[in-house]
Amino acid sequence: MSTTDPARRAAELRALLQHHAHRYHVLDAPEIPDAEYDRLFQELQSIEVAYPELLAPDSPTQRVLGQVLPGLSPVRHAVSMLSIRTETDTTAAGAEAFDARVRRELALPADAPPVEYAAELKFDGLAINLRYEQGVLVQAATRGDGETGEDVTHNIRTIGQIPLRLLGDAPAMLEVRGEVYMRRDDFERLNERQRQQGLKTYINPRNTAAGAVRQLDNRSLADKKLSFFAYGLGEVRGWVQPSTHSATLDAMAAFGMPVCADRAVVQGAAGLVAFHREMGAKRDALPFDIDGVVYKVNAVALQQRLGFVTREPRWAVAHKYPAQEQTTRLNGIEIQVGRTGKLTPVAKLEPVFVGGTTVSNATLHNLFELRRKGVRVGDTVIVRRAGDVIPEVVARVPGPRPAYVPNFRMPRACPVCGSAVLREKGGIDHRCSGGLFCAAQRKQALLHFAGRRAMDIEGLGDKLVDQLVDGGLIRTLPELYKLGVAKLSALERMADRSAANLVAALEKSKHTTLARFLYALGIRHVGEATAKDLVRHFGGIDRIMDASVAQLLEVNDVGPVVAQSIRSFFDQPHHREVVEQLRAAGITWPEHEGEADTAPKPLAGRTLVLTGTLPTLGRDDAKALIEAAGGKVAGSVSKKTDWVVAGAEAGSKLDKARELGIPVLDEAGLHALLGAAAASDGDTAP
Ligand code: IVH
Repeated sequence: MSTTDPARRAAELRALLQHHAHRYHVLDAPEIPDAEYDRLFQELQSIEVAYPELLAPDSPTQRVLGQVLPGLSPVRHAVSMLSIRTETDTTAAGAEAFDARVRRELALPADAPPVEYAAELKFDGLAINLRYEQGVLVQAATRGDGETGEDVTHNIRTIGQIPLRLLGDAPAMLEVRGEVYMRRDDFERLNERQRQQGLKTYINPRNTAAGAVRQLDNRSLADKKLSFFAYGLGEVRGWVQPSTHSATLDAMAAFGMPVCADRAVVQGAAGLVAFHREMGAKRDALPFDIDGVVYKVNAVALQQRLGFVTREPRWAVAHKYPAQEQTTRLNGIEIQVGRTGKLTPVAKLEPVFVGGTTVSNATLHNLFELRRKGVRVGDTVIVRRAGDVIPEVVARVPGPRPAYVPNFRMPRACPVCGSAVLREKGGIDHRCSGGLFCAAQRKQALLHFAGRRAMDIEGLGDKLVDQLVDGGLIRTLPELYKLGVAKLSALERMADRSAANLVAALEKSKHTTLARFLYALGIRHVGEATAKDLVRHFGGIDRIMDASVAQLLEVNDVGPVVAQSIRSFFDQPHHREVVEQLRAAGITWPEHEGEADTAPKPLAGRTLVLTGTLPTLGRDDAKALIEAAGGKVAGSVSKKTDWVVAGAEAGSKLDKARELGIPVLDEAGLHALLGAAAASDGDTAP
C-alpha cells in the first residue's frame, strides 16, 4: 500500500497516525499495537528529515518537546471567554433556584413544559481556547481575564488527546473551548515519582495542570500527562452550529475532540437535581477531579434569548459539590506500620469535612516529605481528599507558631513490635525489620489478603483483624481457614450469625483465580496488573515460584526491581510453606487460567455506545459483558460505532445513532447480540 512518492506517503502516514492517535487517546480503543504506531511515526519522521519542505504544522511529529519561549504572548480572544455563575448551595435547592430563574427570565407560564437542559461535569482544571483554521490547530490560548489570554500553543501541542487536525469535514474556522486537566492517577504517579526521588510533591491536579500549561519551556510537560475535555465554542466560521448544546458536543466528538461521556440531556429542575445527585454519588469513582456540575439551557435559541448579565450567561450555572481541600489544625503525628513494614507518619487532625466525608487522619507519606512541607504539631494545614486516594496533608498554611515545637523524629524501634527501624542507604522509607513477627504487618497482610480485589473475604475488616491478631488466634495467613464458628463466636461482639457468615465467606473465597491469589500474597511490587501478567506468562503457580530473575524479566512490564522482589519472596521457605498450606486448605483456581485471555473474542474490534437506563443491567454490568466479549464501550457516537444500546431516557446519543444510521439495540437486543456472538463462536470452535 505504501507509495514511493514521499509527499504522498507523508500525507498517508499523517492521516494514519491521526486516526490511530484518536483511537488511542480519545476513544481509548487502539487498533494497532504501540510498536506499530511507533514504526509509522518513525517512518514519517525520517521522510520529514529528508524532505523538510514536507513538514506540516499538523504533523504528529510536531508534538515536540524542547521548545522554550522568552515569554508568553498575549492573545486577544475573538469571542470573550466568559465565566459562569456559581450556585454554592450544594443541596437540591441550588438546581431548583437556577431553573426557577430561567423560567422567570424566559417569562414562561407556570404550566409551560419543563425547560430542557444539557447537564455536564464541572472539570477542575484550566480553561483553554483551541483555534482550528481549515481543521488545523493554529493556536491555543488560556482564558486570562476573558478578553486577553496567553498563547500556550507550544505546550498544548504536547497533549496527545488534543487533535492537531480535526477529523472529517472541518469548518473554515472553529474555536473549541474546554478544560485542560490532569487525571488523578497521572497526578498520583507524578507525585509518587517525585517522592521516590526525594523531590517536592505537587499540591493537586488542577494547580499542576495549570502550572504546566503556562510554562515557557515545554520540556517541563514531559513528566506531566495532561488531558482535555471540550465543553463549548468560541469563534466559528463556515459551519452551522447544531440547534442544541448537546448536539454541538456530539459534533465536537465527531471532529475528534475528547468530550466527557458523563453528561445528559434532562428536563426541568427534577432532571437537574437527579443529575447532581447521580454525579455526586459517582464523584469519587471518576478518574479526575470535579468541583461541581454545570447546567446549560440546551436550545441555542433559548440561550440567545436569555443572553448575559455582565460577564456571565443567564443560561448556565455551576452547581458545586463539597470542596476536596480544607484547612484544619494538626493535633499530632503518629506512626503507622504498613503491610511491608513501612513506617508512615500520619497526621491526627481536628476533624474536618472534606470531599464529602469527615476526615481526622491524613497521610504525611514519609519523613522527608514531612520535613519539606515543614509541618509541625499545632500548625494549620491543608488537607486534600479526592476519590479513593487516602486523605493527605498537602501543605502548611503559614502563620504564627509557638516559640518552641520539637522537630518530628522517626522512632528507632517499631512502635508496634519493638524491632529495629531501618532505612536503606539513600532510600526514602523507614521500615520495621520485624517482618511477620510484627503484629502490624500481620494485620495489614491479612487485610490485603482479604481485600475485595484479592481473595474478597466479605466481613473480614479492620476491627475483626485486630481482634484475631491481638487475641493470638491468627499468626499466619493459612490459619484463617482453620477458624471455625466456635472460635469466632468466642470473640467479643461477635454474634453467632456473623461468625457463620464469615465462615461462609471464607469458604466462598476458596474458589478464586490464580491472579487474585498471587496478588493476595502481598509480594512487594506485585499489583493486580503484574499478577495478571505473571499468570498469563507462566500459567501455573509452581512455574512462577520457580522462575529465575531472567525468566521473570521476560514478562510484560516486569523490570529488575519487580523480578528481584518476586524471586526474594519465593526464596523464603516460609513463603512457599504459606502457599502450600493455603492450597492444602482448599484454595483452588481454574487450570489454564492464563489462556482465558486468548479465548475467542467475538466482539473484538467492535465499538458499542451505551445510553439511557437499561431495565435490569447497570451500566457497569453492560460494559463488563461487552468487554468480556472483546468489545469496546465508547463514550460518544460516531461513524465508527457499530451498535448503540439504548435504555429509558436515552438522550442525544440515540438521536445521533439514528442520524448516522447506526443500529440501535435494547437490553434484549444486547443479550441477543452477545448470545449470537457466543453461539457463532461455538460453531467455529474446533
Ligand atoms: S462553560 C459560557 N462548562 O468553569 C460558559 N465551563 O466559570 C463558559 N468549567 O473556568 C463555561 N467545566 O473552565 C463550562 N462543563 C463546563 C465546565 C466549565 C469546567 C470551567 C471553565 C471556567 C469555569 C466557568
